[in-house]
Amino acid sequence: MVSALEITAATVDPALLDLPWHLPLEEWPDENIVALPKGLSRHTVRFAHLSGHVIAIKETLPELSKREYDMLRNLSKLDVPCVEAFAIINNRNDADGNELPSVLITRHLKFSLPYRAMWSQGLRAETATRLVDALALLLVRLHIAGFFWGDVSLSNTLFRRDAGSFAAYLVDAETGHLYESGLSNGQRENDLEIARVNIAGELMDLIASGNAAPGIDAVATSERIMGKYRELWVELTGAESFNAEEKWKINRRIERLNRLGFDIDEMSIRQDASGARIKIQPKVVDAGHHARRLIRLTGLDVEENQARRLLNDLDEYSRDHHRMGADEEVLAHEWLSNIFEPVILSIPKDMSGRLEPAEIFHQVLEHRWYISENAGHDIALGDAVDSYVKNVLTNRRDEEALISPATGSIELPKGIPSGTITVEEDDEDADWRDLV
Ligand SMILES: Nc1ncnc2c1ncn2[C@@H]1O[C@H](COP(=O)(O)OP(=O)(O)O)[C@@H](O)[C@H]1O
Ligand SMILES: [Mg+2]
Repeated sequence: MVSALEITAATVDPALLDLPWHLPLEEWPDENIVALPKGLSRHTVRFAHLSGHVIAIKETLPELSKREYDMLRNLSKLDVPCVEAFAIINNRNDADGNELPSVLITRHLKFSLPYRAMWSQGLRAETATRLVDALALLLVRLHIAGFFWGDVSLSNTLFRRDAGSFAAYLVDAETGHLYESGLSNGQRENDLEIARVNIAGELMDLIASGNAAPGIDAVATSERIMGKYRELWVELTGAESFNAEEKWKINRRIERLNRLGFDIDEMSIRQDASGARIKIQPKVVDAGHHARRLIRLTGLDVEENQARRLLNDLDEYSRDHHRMGADEEVLAHEWLSNIFEPVILSIPKDMSGRLEPAEIFHQVLEHRWYISENAGHDIALGDAVDSYVKNVLTNRRDEEALISPATGSIELPKGIPSGTITVEEDDEDADWRDLV
């Protein structure tokens, strides 16, 4: 029956054919399955090994898998953060010739966490706020790209650490639509309302199941998405007018957008008939202002806030080591080999999967600041790294991917019993529990 399989993929990995497609996903043997935390889902979704990587497999209807596959590919062309579509497989049959569902395969997003796996003592109010802020930014970016989501929720989003904040990625595009001509205000408001209701429900669930830390307010946190979203929308797309002699306001607007992490690709600047008033409006904005500068200077490809943090350190290094003939590129290269790489290389190998290198570097800088303050004097970077490894990193669990031993998929039903997989949010005194 395997011969009847129909695979659609941009790049075909022959190892894909070795997976047990003739079995329902629920019945896949442990050796194929990767135990990783997962959000709530309608369909069966499991993670599996494939050629040294991890893939996420979702069983669904053929038309839905095709639709979502196409949608994810279009979104990634538009440069919106989302999981990467890998393949769809149709015409699955079991050994008796019975039809099995189609599957959509995406690449597992490394170092990503579903919101339900982001705590051990209960999701904290402050973390929930940062998750909502990250989701608001993602929603604005999706709307700017013309995407109506239709099922905005914390469960349909993955989060990666981003230097004290989070970066949100879309994981479930099944209900979405792309509109080339953009979204109407009504459509945007509709998505926003869906987000608010879903987030409130998801947080209430957490509270009811005893998995939220005290002090978390489901309604207030869910309402925060409205304010955050609108603030960003106005900043990224709103028109602004001023008197002709206030042209500096054009630069001010650009700087504000840069600080938010955006570049302006196209801005409309218009003068009224009398020439006394000027109106500006960003037309095309690109996220990744800091990330692009960092990648140009160092080749490091990281999240936006991580890039901001690394660039601060790099710029400080460049100021301290400024000399004739050493331009920005030369100093950046020096910073990379004298500062960044030694920190990352001094992380013991067995702990290198705990956090992304850029996040480790960010945390080392934070830790250095913290212990210097306690000591009352500056602590050398090398000593700060040692202390960070010994006191902080040792207590974290791997977030890259828990590849071995493969213990089975982890379902996180509503009302998770305490003791299921948890990933500690804060650095200090982490209390790791094992996989169930
Ligand atoms: N590529 C991926 N990387 C990491 N996690 C994923 C990936 N795809 C799915 N997941 C996990 O599986 C969960 C369910 O996936 P989703 O597409 O929302 O399924 P459903 O359509 O059934 O709601 C997500 O919340 C996420 O935790
Ligand atoms: Mg979903």
